[in-house]
Amino acid sequence: MFSDQLLDAMNEQMKNEFLSGYLYLAMAGYFEHEDLPGIANWMRVQALEELTHGEKFFNFICEAGGRSDLRAIDAPQNDYASPLDCFVYSLNHEKFVTDRINNLMDMARDERNHAAQIFLQWFVTEQVEEEASFGLILKKLERIGDDGNGLLRLDEELAQRVFVPPTAAE
Ligand code: FEO
Repeated sequence: MFSDQLLDAMNEQMKNEFLSGYLYLAMAGYFEHEDLPGIANWMRVQALEELTHGEKFFNFICEAGGRSDLRAIDAPQNDYASPLDCFVYSLNHEKFVTDRINNLMDMARDERNHAAQIFLQWFVTEQVEEEASFGLILKKLERIGDDGNGLLRLDEELAQRVFVPPTAAE
């Protein structure tokens, strides 16, 4: 089902998804330390979502007859200059992930691996959502600037986010 090259890239992307979870949990720790528990909650939920993304790759690799290869994850950045700096970093990270997913899709298409293309399509769509949600919060933070009350209102808003486990169909 997999060429050696595609399997290697799938395993690498599985690592990137788990790495994303680790990174966003580090960011949650930053916001907890900054006494912004609502933004920390948003990041905790994002971290949980990323773990489900990594698990999707794990499941697909196993189901498609590939050998899973769990790889080392580097320590994420724990400290940020400001909430804005943190969201600039996270949006750039999502753009990196989008680029990796697009490369994987190109590889699957070149190899005429249709099952991998269908699997990856979910991630192509998901990355549009991910970049949009990080980008929206980044824009709000830019508008907030040094307005402490604005930051507290954003914190209250982001406290509402709830983790929804994926259904079997997703
Ligand atoms: Fe699963 Fe946010 O990339």
